[in-house]
Amino acid sequence: MFTVHSYNPLRKSDLYNVARKIFREADEMPLFDKAVAQCEHSLSRLLIDENTGYIAGFALVCKKPTKYYFKFMKSIPNCYELAFLGVAPEYQGCGIGSRLLKETLLELSQLASAYTCWLLVDCINEGAIRLYERIGFRRWRKTDEGKTPLPGYIMGISKSPYYTRFRHRFLPHIIVRN
Ligand SMILES: CC(C)(COP(=O)(O)OP(=O)(O)OC[C@H]1O[C@@H](n2cnc3c(N)ncnc32)[C@H](O)[C@@H]1OP(=O)(O)O)[C@@H](O)C(=O)NCCC(=O)NCCS
Repeated sequence: MFTVHSYNPLRKSDLYNVARKIFREADEMPLFDKAVAQCEHSLSRLLIDENTGYIAGFALVCKKPTKYYFKFMKSIPNCYELAFLGVAPEYQGCGIGSRLLKETLLELSQLASAYTCWLLVDCINEGAIRLYERIGFRRWRKTDEGKTPLPGYIMGISKSPYYTRFRHRFLPHIIVRN
């Protein structure tokens, strides 16, 4: 059984143990440090395997972005960055990433009548892009050479389409413990 919890800084070292398995040390981990430091604890999530106590997955959400990639991003009202979404390798492919993503967007939609959420994903990460698009994220811009270590897409979503589609389907399955 899995339960979803708000981010708890006491689990920081466990969180790093998972993150180091899935994110690049050279360029992703420095941004990860930033995301951990400035994420909104109440919006960020740890998904715990209750049988083992391990962190199976996590979503870090920031109000203050870890980085501005384009000028226009500074002027988006009520904007959040899904700075990191990760699932431990042994738990991938079981729906945990989808669940964390849906849970994050539901939380944002309950917080504000309108919001935008964006993320950066490597263009070569086709699995993750498919997942984001299925949930409703759209590709906004491709990052220019040199702006990101690998070519990436800035993808984004705004409240209304997501809320209408997923509200009833997912709320009952989610246990949130603050
Ligand atoms: C991307 C990630 C968060 C997805 O989480 P997950 O729990 O494995 O995903 P789910 O089980 O919910 O699967 C949802 C979809 O993700 C896609 N997907 C996830 N991992 C994939 C992989 N390794 N290869 C291909 N597709 C993958 C598939 O489209 C899948 O849809 P499907 O069921 O139609 O095949 C997870 O694989 C991960 O942590 N990867 C490493 C870190 C990463 O890339 N994070 C995103 C950076 S922006």
